[in-house]
Amino acid sequence: MKAVQFPRYGGPDVLTVNDVPEPVPGTGQLLVRMQASSVNPIDWKLASGVLRFLMWIKRPATPGFDLVGEVLQVGPQSGKFSIGQQVVARISQNPGGATAEKALVSAKDCVLLPEGITPQDAAALPLAGMTALQALRDDCGMKLTGETKRVLIVGGSGGVGHYAVQIAHQAGAHVTAVCSGKRAAVVRSLGASVIIDYQQQDHLRSDAPYDIILDCASKPNWAPFEEVLTERGVLSQITFSAGWLARIAWTKLSSKKRIKPTMLKPNAKDLSLLLGWMKQGNLQSLVGASFPFTDLADAWRLNEKGGTLGKIGITYPEPQ
Ligand SMILES: NC(=O)c1ccc[n+]([C@@H]2O[C@H](COP(=O)([O-])OP(=O)(O)OC[C@H]3O[C@@H](n4cnc5c(N)ncnc54)[C@H](OP(=O)(O)O)[C@@H]3O)[C@@H](O)[C@H]2O)c1
Repeated sequence: MKAVQFPRYGGPDVLTVNDVPEPVPGTGQLLVRMQASSVNPIDWKLASGVLRFLMWIKRPATPGFDLVGEVLQVGPQSGKFSIGQQVVARISQNPGGATAEKALVSAKDCVLLPEGITPQDAAALPLAGMTALQALRDDCGMKLTGETKRVLIVGGSGGVGHYAVQIAHQAGAHVTAVCSGKRAAVVRSLGASVIIDYQQQDHLRSDAPYDIILDCASKPNWAPFEEVLTERGVLSQITFSAGWLARIAWTKLSSKKRIKPTMLKPNAKDLSLLLGWMKQGNLQSLVGASFPFTDLADAWRLNEKGGTLGKIGITYPEPQ
């Protein structure tokens, strides 16, 4: 089968399309024919080697964490799944393996693709959607219904951000979103009451204060966030650096305001919840661009450059 691989650490230029042996599902695993995937910044960050001291990757390796596909083979003890079903998952092994004609996935990570949701819409959701949900609900303490808090989403038109805007709005929160001016109308349509263009000066202050802030844009400093949080407000930080870790420790000692590092914990229960909302029409995926899986290098270049609305989709050919 064909698989996109990085034979060594590097940027998109190191990716190659190779013929590799078809994997065999082990205990608890499914072999899936890929139908759709999507790009997440962690894919190219892992391949670049910047995270090698935290997460070492055996190479050559096939990237890609988001998976929608048809079950071809079922390994022993793989629960309720059977051949021919369409499943959705955030693959839990590193660095994924979705950017190939066929992929292995743990049955425990999989959910059946609900009727009426396209593979492309479902494949945009797992990693980014679960991160948005867990950041708001688990790390920031947002209730999923009847929430009255003021929530700021920085990067509201991006992969994680566009799901976060919808989840907070559906919960009942007053949602303010920071995005580029050209994305204002679409982010408003997702449920943001106030849109702030990040090119405006002092933009975080415009609609302050906020009880909850989710930063999806890797803003480097705590000070501008601290200023606009309520007295017991909480910031979810989804990108990590040594500076942020030190700041988190110091803030614990010195302030009632809190910084919560968010690290996605992929699980089928949260994915099922999100797919349920999508089926009911309360959550949608925005896929601003798509590439065939063999053009993954171009998809990564675009994701690194930024500026795409929502997610970048990855497509696969239909079987002959
Ligand atoms: N901890 C975890 O488990 C976890 C999980 C998922 C993602 N992440 C990390 O979270 C980050 C975001 O991921 P993503 O998938 O949402 O990426 P993304 O799709 O590239 O979104 C980033 C967003 O930031 C916006 N942006 C850029 N500069 C900005 C600024 N100065 N002010 C406000 N917004 C700005 C972009 O808007 P424009 O396009 O309009 O410029 C874009 O909407 C990445 O660093 C990723 O690695 C972490």
